[in-house]
Amino acid sequence: MSVSVKVRVPGTTANCGPGFDAVGIACTIYNDLELTLSTEGSLVIEVEGEGASLIPTDDKNIVWQVIQKVFEKVGKQYQGIHIKMNNQIPLSRGLGSSAAAIVAGLFAANVATGNTLSKDDLLDMATAIEGHPDNVAPAIFGGITTSVVEGKKARYLRFVPPAKLNMIVAIPDFNLSTHAARQVLPETVPFKDAVFNISRTALVIGALCQGEFQHLRYALADKIHQPYREHLIPGMGQVFDAALEKGALGVALSGAGPCLIAFAQDRCEEVGFGMVEAFANNQISAKYLVLDIDTEGARVID
Ligand code: HSE
Repeated sequence: MSVSVKVRVPGTTANCGPGFDAVGIACTIYNDLELTLSTEGSLVIEVEGEGASLIPTDDKNIVWQVIQKVFEKVGKQYQGIHIKMNNQIPLSRGLGSSAAAIVAGLFAANVATGNTLSKDDLLDMATAIEGHPDNVAPAIFGGITTSVVEGKKARYLRFVPPAKLNMIVAIPDFNLSTHAARQVLPETVPFKDAVFNISRTALVIGALCQGEFQHLRYALADKIHQPYREHLIPGMGQVFDAALEKGALGVALSGAGPCLIAFAQDRCEEVGFGMVEAFANNQISAKYLVLDIDTEGARVID
């Protein structure tokens, strides 16, 4: 006996400037996962697309590991596990590839085993695995989320802005692991920098919620992670300046980087070209994507 399910999970951009480990946006770039469970057989993992040569196809695979966690939680076991991944989200670039893998594994395993866990349960599990909720929450629920962790529970608020907002993501041609990008962060930050970020995070959420995007230019400023990470991304300041000069509403590091993100309602291609050119001026080859907000989050397809 076997059961098969195919799911799609969006990539995400986390932090949105000052909202470190709290704010995230689901983007229209996706990883698909087809999971087939059988009572007999063995583990087979196939990977196509982004990161195909880098993603382990044995029991070190994160999707397999999180599927085991669902089995434990719902009290089921399968010998035959066939995992087929088709990835669009670039690996270790700040677009939530690891969150998408975790959410895809949890979501697919839950559906395949009878849907006993709610999306809120999956959020708690995904947050515990990832360590912070800012990517996994929008990957599960879509839209823009702002989240907190209270004990073992992640609480979130989700919304979609009332006006169209594009994200232009400049993707440089090098990886940066979240682990490495967190290693450079300080243990403590000055009180005035904390106040700087609190005030701007509140404004970012208000501006996005109300569609008052004119605030984004200064609301997206950050003092608690971007300045410490800037040396890891050659040309970061110039790429930001280029995007703003070409008409972007505001700019930020996407998650832990190295992708840089600009928000705009129009002139998206010009903004993208400007960002890529600024990276090139720093001897970094890059490409750009113009993405929308994904409003669905993790879903079953086909
Ligand atoms: N909030 C996280 C960070 C996002 O900036 O380290 C990356 O997963």
